[in-house]
Amino acid sequence: MKTTADFLKMKAAGEKIVMLTAYDYPAARFAEDAGVDMILVGDSLGMVVLGYSSTMPVTVADMVHHAKAVRRGAKDTFIVVDMPFGSYHGDSNETLKTAVQMMQETGADALKLEGAGEVIPMIRKLVAAGIPVVAHLGLLPQSAGVLGGYKVQGKTAEQAERLLAEAKQCEEAGACAVVLECIPHQLTAMVSARLTIPTIGIGAGVEADGQVLVYHDMLGYGSHHVPKFVERFGDMGTAARSGIARYVADVKAQTFPALQHSFTMKEETLEQLYG
Ligand code: KIV
Ligand code: NA
Repeated sequence: MKTTADFLKMKAAGEKIVMLTAYDYPAARFAEDAGVDMILVGDSLGMVVLGYSSTMPVTVADMVHHAKAVRRGAKDTFIVVDMPFGSYHGDSNETLKTAVQMMQETGADALKLEGAGEVIPMIRKLVAAGIPVVAHLGLLPQSAGVLGGYKVQGKTAEQAERLLAEAKQCEEAGACAVVLECIPHQLTAMVSARLTIPTIGIGAGVEADGQVLVYHDMLGYGSHHVPKFVERFGDMGTAARSGIARYVADVKAQTFPALQHSFTMKEETLEQLYG
């Protein structure tokens, strides 16, 4: 399994880091088999698999439940788990307790926290306790209400400078990587050049040291809105819909199950039964 040290080396060598979200056992297996470097059990699971309209309702118990399944499916891949909304902004001892619980119950390799400011001391505290932390800057879905929606961040010089400073603070607090979401690609280039730790971009351009996408978005699996920065690398939705439609039609038409799907009793047993 790759470690945080390997990710530093990959950045230094200019080798891109591939991250993908996964929320269950089969997705984790597919990701590991395909050579994904890092799996993220994102709180995006609230939207793409639980059907909520934001990540806000996602609980620590939800994250733990899904992360355990992902761990079982990807024993040999670095797994990052999101701390969900409201789980790391109160008392810092409480945050540490929650983080330790999440690490111990899931077998994750790192946790991810959104934002800087008051989150910086939390990053420092978790790292001091031995928990690798991935930071997350730019568009912060858990703060969509405060940001005024899901919008591109860091477009003005002032916002860009603030983000650069925050990225540096995350690195200094001990973060092992930083996710950059929905920022101009030129800003991604600046952040990536200034940091030793890798940047993992989503909607942040090719200049990031790595990329992350949401499983259901990149595979076209779901009925939710898919953002502009996503490339469709597959069409699982169409495959699922047409497969289910054919199943419904075949059961109604009695063409399924066929004999090959059925169990057959011996002729002599039948004779015994009917006499
Ligand atoms: O929850 C998630 O999937 C994420 C990625 C978008 C980075 O945080
Ligand atoms: Na997230």
